Amino acid sequence: MQEKRIVIASDHAGFELKSYLTTVLKESGYAVLDLGPSDNAPLDYPDKAKVLAETLRQNPTDKGILICGTGIGMSIAVNRFPYIRGALVFTPEMATLSRQHNDANVLILGARTTTTEMAVACMRAFLQANFEGGRHEKRVAKLGGLSC
Ligand code: RB5
Repeated sequence: MQEKRIVIASDHAGFELKSYLTTVLKESGYAVLDLGPSDNAPLDYPDKAKVLAETLRQNPTDKGILICGTGIGMSIAVNRFPYIRGALVFTPEMATLSRQHNDANVLILGARTTTTEMAVACMRAFLQANFEGGRHEKRVAKLGGLSC
């Protein structure tokens, strides 16, 4: 049994990868909240980013995963919420460092820019790594004060 819940969402371009990653997560023993979609009908990525950000606002110990075609739209959208630290990653090393150095709470993947195998590796790396604190603490704290 894992201690943290994973909240996952995508747009239509990320639907298939989201379904696969959700299965992997459940088989690995994670508690998963799938915010949809339940099919690949077109939808706008800001809408799903907003729903996931709102869920994390209410449940700050959750970790999020967002997927769109490139990952870029989800990244832009979800990082508008000041308590979200969303990391668009393409390698497991980036995923690990996003946790260790940036205390990222949302992993963002591009379904059209990342292979399924690499996406799984990034997800596992993200979920296994922990924030290192120390010299990164004050840098991450400053992120919350950057809005104008
Ligand atoms: C959808 O076609 C695509 O634009 C979207 O998934 C994403 O890549 C946007 O950043």
